Amino acid sequence: MANTEIPNRQLFIDGEWRKPFNNKRIPIINPATEEIIGDVPAATAEDVDAAVEAARNAFYRNGGRDWSAATGAHRAKYLRAIAAKISEKKSELAKLESIDCGKPLDEAIWDIDDVGGCFNYYADLAEALDSKNKISVSVPMEVFRCHVLKEPLGVVGLITPWNYPLLMATWKLAPALAAGCTAILKPSELASITCLELAEICRDVGLPPGVLNVVTGLGPDAGAPLVCHPHVDKISFTGSSVTGSKIMASAAQLVKPVSLELGGKSPIVVFEDVDLDKAVEWTLFGCFLTNGQMCSATSRLIIHESIAEAFLEKLVKWCDNIKVSDPLEEGCKLGPIISNAQYTKVLSFISRAKEEGASILCGGARPQHLDKGYFISPTIIMDVETSMQIWREEVFGPALCVKTFATEEEAIELANDTQYGLGAAVISQDLERCKRVSKAFQAGIVWVNCSQPCFFQAPWGGKKRSGFGRELGEWGLENFLNVKQVTEFTGNDQFGWYKAPPP
Ligand code: NAI
Ligand code: MG
Repeated sequence: MANTEIPNRQLFIDGEWRKPFNNKRIPIINPATEEIIGDVPAATAEDVDAAVEAARNAFYRNGGRDWSAATGAHRAKYLRAIAAKISEKKSELAKLESIDCGKPLDEAIWDIDDVGGCFNYYADLAEALDSKNKISVSVPMEVFRCHVLKEPLGVVGLITPWNYPLLMATWKLAPALAAGCTAILKPSELASITCLELAEICRDVGLPPGVLNVVTGLGPDAGAPLVCHPHVDKISFTGSSVTGSKIMASAAQLVKPVSLELGGKSPIVVFEDVDLDKAVEWTLFGCFLTNGQMCSATSRLIIHESIAEAFLEKLVKWCDNIKVSDPLEEGCKLGPIISNAQYTKVLSFISRAKEEGASILCGGARPQHLDKGYFISPTIIMDVETSMQIWREEVFGPALCVKTFATEEEAIELANDTQYGLGAAVISQDLERCKRVSKAFQAGIVWVNCSQPCFFQAPWGGKKRSGFGRELGEWGLENFLNVKQVTEFTGNDQFGWYKAPPP
């Protein structure tokens, strides 16, 4: 597996591969082996300028007939062709994703399947748009006729993170292209490989030049110039709350719309009436998928005090059974953390928790059988106070913290005791109780008797410091559409507000 070739790519601008202006590149490190396995180009403002110009030309070229003003059905053909190529190259893309971000191969395969599915889904929505892009509105004055046009928003900047490299890019790109926008994609410097492969796929299927541009590089060097570029009409961002806040401040200078999908500290509330094994499995799935690096991870377990002991005992046993290994190894369920910096950060969260008085029930360090790679065993942290960092801040690693409760009210209070509001899960056999708790959760996404399942037909996004705007489903498409009101005067006579002057 170690011999998987990392393609050597340049920036993708105006339909062609171009060397970055300053000729610099960023090393790619395999987080499972700590080895440098390749590099990606490091774009700067000059490259971003060129990409934005290409995207703008593509938007307006030929009166928009090539792309933005073409029918949705025309654009859908490209989206379907991209989906077909993704499926053709599935195993290669999944392997690259695993090597680049440490994700277990089975998860990466799942992601790539979703990528293809998402392009096909937005192809359907692009086609449907042809009959839905003109909506008549009834107005109370007979002499006026009013309708609404839905038009592509323009040139959009898409800035994405490293935990779902190709999937997060797709959640933004598929609806943006379906809507008729042209795009500049800035993937994370920690995982850019598959986004560059997507560019190659777009070139392969003959996507008009400039419709998609991919500029890899560091956030401040390649992301920031995109955000403040006057010819970028919108920024869609997924990543940390700190960077999201910076992006919002910078976009505010130009009153540029942004949608932000940021961090989280999501709760999973487990009541006393559950089937222990089922609840244990969802608790693990909710926190340790993608090596615990999920914005929506339900990383705060809030468990009824009467079952806490039995539940935690099982949880630890199940943790011991999770295979931590190189993500390409058969049966791997937990791979390494993305980078040395993130690895150090996660470990420092765990040691700070200990200093603050919490106890580590299991995990907390690199497993003994691995002597290199940024691996951390599944970690469960008890004796947690709500004032502790581990309860309040996003760890972005395989660390679950636990608190017990006695009453439903107390459980809800603990669940909402966070500055974030992305996901929340409740596990109970009492469906009326699940309904009440779902309603009380301050979150954008609620899971009942599960945690994490995500479907591209349903809206995704948060509230509070988890951001705003919704991706996926029809909401994802609306993100990239401008609503234009067109009102027509249809009266035969003069309108009659002013009096005509005497002849
Ligand atoms: P980040 O939020 O800084 O990076 C996300 C993207 O933003 C990357 O493409 C990055 O290059 C870009 N970026 C960074 N600074 C920018 C700027 N000033 N202007 C424009 N773009 C910029 O996240 P990072 O540093 O990789 O991870 C740090 C923490 O963020 C993690 O520990 C985790 O807590 C959180 N995170 C949350 C994610 C989510 O899905 N909500 C995903 C990745 C990280
Ligand atoms: Mg990487």
